[in-house]
Amino acid sequence: MKKIIITIDGYSSCGKSTLAKQLARELDYVYIDSGAMYRAITLYFIQNRVDWANSAAVAEALTNIQLEFEYDELHHEQASMYLNGENVEPLIRDMVVADKVSEVAAIREVREFAVAQQQQMGEKKGIVMDGRDIGTTVFPHAELKIFMTADTAIRVERRFRELYAKNKNITLQEVKENLELRDYIDSNREISPLRKAADAIILDNSQLSMDEQLQLALQWVEDAT
Ligand code: C5P
Repeated sequence: MKKIIITIDGYSSCGKSTLAKQLARELDYVYIDSGAMYRAITLYFIQNRVDWANSAAVAEALTNIQLEFEYDELHHEQASMYLNGENVEPLIRDMVVADKVSEVAAIREVREFAVAQQQQMGEKKGIVMDGRDIGTTVFPHAELKIFMTADTAIRVERRFRELYAKNKNITLQEVKENLELRDYIDSNREISPLRKAADAIILDNSQLSMDEQLQLALQWVEDAT
């Protein structure tokens, strides 16, 4: 089967990364979590007190940021995000980063920096990338574009369970507010707002099991190859 580019976009906590990892495993593709890149940049800005309202400070800071994914040899769909040689995987999932990431991801210089690297990663095809603007901006000519949605209450519950497993102080309300705020900023920003690409297929997984969503997506892959 010929290798293609698969893009998965959608609102926060729709299960995009779960489907992307399932597809990467089944198809022996590379999985790229583009959100991890925006999270790592945000972490760097917070740690280094970068004033991100100042474009010169942002441009300067970006020259000091090196992002890399490291793959687990056995489960190559499991990638860890490295920021300047350090594994920042647990840190970028923290609420401190989640609270600021959409603000940082709306900055033009930040998006240009991330998108250029994402486009390079897709040159060899055989890639599944999830995010907000992958089908619209990063790979507008991708062979298969999926736009995922799920009921808000279901998305909040899923994200809460994920975060609560690591931090018992987190509240459902806090998670709900963060999710709604990120969706709002991501959908209303000026550059590459979250949108369904005209040729994307909608996948509402509110009532689907993991296996059902995978089977659907695999059928679409077959149709696209
Ligand atoms: O996918 P995840 O929830 O980890 O993404 C974190 C944030 O990164 C999003 O809320 C959004 O602000 C930003 N993002 C983006 N474009 C992408 C992927 C993520 O703006 N392609």
